[in-house]
Amino acid sequence: MLKGSKVGLRARHEDDIPILRTELYDDVVNSARSEGRPWRPITPGSKDSRLVVDDKEQGHVPFSVVELDGGTLIGTATLWGIDNHHRSAHIGLGLLPSARGKGYGTDVVAVLCHYGFVVRGLQRLQIETLSDNAAMLRSAERNGFVREGVLRSSAWVMGEFLDQVLLGLLVQEWKPASKG
Ligand SMILES: CC(C)(COP(=O)(O)OP(=O)(O)OC[C@H]1O[C@@H](n2cnc3c(N)ncnc32)[C@H](O)[C@@H]1OP(=O)(O)O)[C@@H](O)C(=O)NCCC(=O)NCCS
Repeated sequence: MLKGSKVGLRARHEDDIPILRTELYDDVVNSARSEGRPWRPITPGSKDSRLVVDDKEQGHVPFSVVELDGGTLIGTATLWGIDNHHRSAHIGLGLLPSARGKGYGTDVVAVLCHYGFVVRGLQRLQIETLSDNAAMLRSAERNGFVREGVLRSSAWVMGEFLDQVLLGLLVQEWKPASKG
């Protein structure tokens, strides 16, 4: 398990799946805001890639996020789009509603940076988020990510086009906050 100051990132367990499905992915508005595709329900027991991990998929590493203190499941985190030629990847995360606003998101970003830069030897990490997602922007910027551009009207979200902000962090700019 990778450890930050408050959260751990571990493998997906079978028991995580119904919790993530009902508390995260059944939320249409949250899914529409966080994912690059239209919401559709996940059938219980299905092998939907948002929940069931394919360990053979090299470019995509999903984690379950737990509280270090007690091990309670609080969300998901992913290093995706891993490009071993350009040595870059994207990061994504989603916390259960009850876990938001407690500093966990900032810590998850820190742990994903450790995984990307130290464990995987990448040189650039990237985040795309809606321009009104203050908590995600702040979680990224607290870890040194800088705003590199605005993708105007790039996301169709519940009936309207919204802007996305693209943030990047290079390994030489990164100041590790935790040992991971
Ligand atoms: C985005 C998300 C991962 C952030 O994690 P979090 O644990 O809620 O964020 P934190 O508690 O670490 O807060 C980070 C900063 O944002 C601020 N913040 C938190 N919630 C906020 C809100 N609703 N509005 C404005 N600022 C907020 C915090 O005060 C903190 O700022 P500080 O460091 O200056 O004190 C989490 O809220 C989440 O999962 N949201 C739903 C899914 C989502 O949007 N995922 C990202 C898709 S790209």
